[in-house]
Amino acid sequence: MKAIAVARDGSHAVRLVEVPRPSVDDVLGGRGVLVRVLRVGVDGTDKEILAGEYGAPPPGETTLIIGHESFGVVEAVGPAVRGIGPGDFVVATVRRRGSSPYDAIGMYDMTTDDRYVERGINLAHGFLAEYYVDDPEYIVRVPPALADVGVLLEPTSIVEKGIVQAYEIQRRLKIWQPRTAFVLGAGTIGLLAAMVLRLRGIDVHVFARAAKPNRNAELAEALGAAYHATAELSFRRAAQSLPPADVIFEATGFSPLAFDAMDVLGKNGVLVLSSVTSGSRTAEVPADRINLRFVLGNKVMVGTVNANREYFEAGVRDHALAKATWGDWAARLITHRVPGLERYEELVHLLNEGKDAIKVVCEVSPQP
Ligand code: BGC
Ligand code: ZN
Repeated sequence: MKAIAVARDGSHAVRLVEVPRPSVDDVLGGRGVLVRVLRVGVDGTDKEILAGEYGAPPPGETTLIIGHESFGVVEAVGPAVRGIGPGDFVVATVRRRGSSPYDAIGMYDMTTDDRYVERGINLAHGFLAEYYVDDPEYIVRVPPALADVGVLLEPTSIVEKGIVQAYEIQRRLKIWQPRTAFVLGAGTIGLLAAMVLRLRGIDVHVFARAAKPNRNAELAEALGAAYHATAELSFRRAAQSLPPADVIFEATGFSPLAFDAMDVLGKNGVLVLSSVTSGSRTAEVPADRINLRFVLGNKVMVGTVNANREYFEAGVRDHALAKATWGDWAARLITHRVPGLERYEELVHLLNEGKDAIKVVCEVSPQP
């Protein structure tokens, strides 16, 4: 079968490769689920992997099949698989069980292991291929009515985890009723965070650089969120004339903003940090003031990465609710579709240069 792989032999060339097609027997105990890949999304993590800044191939190999935002259809299952069968639409989670106590209870996204395995990212092949096989533990069913947004479930799971964590933490306040949320960044994660927060009845303010009109602003406003262009007025200045933020979700990929967000966050508020910044940027910050306000305001900050199946399932529920509320809103996040694995150069180009792109996907195989 065909797959898109990046080299880790000194170069980081991207190639279309021919590899053996997996089979249900590749998973022990009759637990194999063979999935035909329909569609795969790419994101900033893929960009870093292709630039050679992040990611590693499976042990003993020199190439990594990329792609971690999958959507596919089950083609065959092993004899021990229950509750999932041929014809079901599915997505796969990304991280695989390690050895910490969190991994043992299915919370592999909370692993304390130093070395962790993530399909398409770290030490395991991904989903930009015609087929993959996996254990049902890592496979989540998607109802046919959500097939058009199935490929958005992986990024949605990241958002769900961050917001569920925020609510879990805020149980410390007994009567917490968030009214105002700030979302930093209007890319896929920022817009999906705005969606999930709006579904909870919260007033949402999205902050991103570009002035209006632009597609990301229109999408934020279609949810009933306010869009603020930081090219015109900085985040700090704009926040001064808004109610205090009970929640801030940071998803810009620009680490200095985390410190602005700490400063701006309202009393008793929670700040969720989700940007994976693998660079080496430094910044000067008003440390005393940020620290003082954080202490006097009883504020909380939480870092969040990856997601286990619980958050994929939460994403399925919220996409169903979002579809009932805003119709095809989420499908409009998919701005570019590359037809076929063969056109991988176009995919890489859009990932690196696609200026007005929100979510770029590869249409690997036609949807039945
Ligand atoms: C993926 C996560 C992963 C993280 C760090 C993100 O792009 O969506 O699943 O844990 O990168 O590798
Ligand atoms: Zn990702």
